[in-house]
Amino acid sequence: MGITPGQKVVDVGCGTGDFTRYVARLSDGRSRILGVDSNPKSIKAGIADTKRVGLSQVVSFKLGDAYKIPIDDDYADLTCCRTLLMHLDDPLKAVREMARITKPGGHVVAVEQGKMGVYYDPNDKRFSRLSDQVWEAQLRGIRKLEGKEFRIGEKLPGIFQEAGLVDMKAEILNNVYLASDPRQSLNDHKEELRFYLTYFKERMEKDRKYVVAGGLSNVKVSEYNRGYVSKIEGLLADDQKLRQDPTISTDALYIVSGMKKD
Ligand SMILES: C[S@@+](CC[C@H](N)C(=O)[O-])C[C@H]1O[C@@H](n2cnc3c(N)ncnc32)[C@H](O)[C@@H]1O
Repeated sequence: MGITPGQKVVDVGCGTGDFTRYVARLSDGRSRILGVDSNPKSIKAGIADTKRVGLSQVVSFKLGDAYKIPIDDDYADLTCCRTLLMHLDDPLKAVREMARITKPGGHVVAVEQGKMGVYYDPNDKRFSRLSDQVWEAQLRGIRKLEGKEFRIGEKLPGIFQEAGLVDMKAEILNNVYLASDPRQSLNDHKEELRFYLTYFKERMEKDRKYVVAGGLSNVKVSEYNRGYVSKIEGLLADDQKLRQDPTISTDALYIVSGMKKD
């Protein structure tokens, strides 16, 4: 993100501050990083976590809305966000605000999910297809019911341009999951799978409404939910099967930056 000593950085939609502290660690200890979020509980947790890890000298937090950031014009050298814009029904308005609080010549950077996610099990092509259909329908449903674009990554350069930013740059950070990859220990694989499974079980009935609104039948959603749970439980019950599983899945984070005109 090109942070240089002594800069002022704002992280919008900072949540509990994981990314805010990551940015602070990238800097030299002389930069000032300010996290802004509309959720008071997250701000409180962010302040406590930051104190615990000894970064309170450089990182502070403020309650505020991304559509009306409580910071003066031309304040920051760098204004950033991670997985914020995907949750907003008017991301352009937020990017305009991010540009407003950025100095001329300073940068706005967004890190957001985008296309290039893949799920493929060569031994179960039907389930792989169903998985694609569920994900596509869910994205359509979220768009339809809440006006949000969960796969906003590839749209960022257009949004930045509309917000008046120039000199856009883009990179993609891809994560890949393959259980047979020996560079990760069996325990780490299992921990990751357990995390996915718990998250999936918590979300699956809540997400059903999006998938159905996106055009897939309830029967197909149930088939997918059952298939996913049984597949992951099967892998967790058999170490050898897990280590030989050729299913590959990926996701992509788009990192897009733009400059505020001098
Ligand atoms: C997925 S979390 C990302 C948190 C953090 N950026 C990270 O990467 O760990 C999205 C965050 O955006 C915040 N948020 C959503 N709408 C907001 C708004 N209108 N103004 C400010 N923050 C908002 C939420 O409270 C939540 O903390």
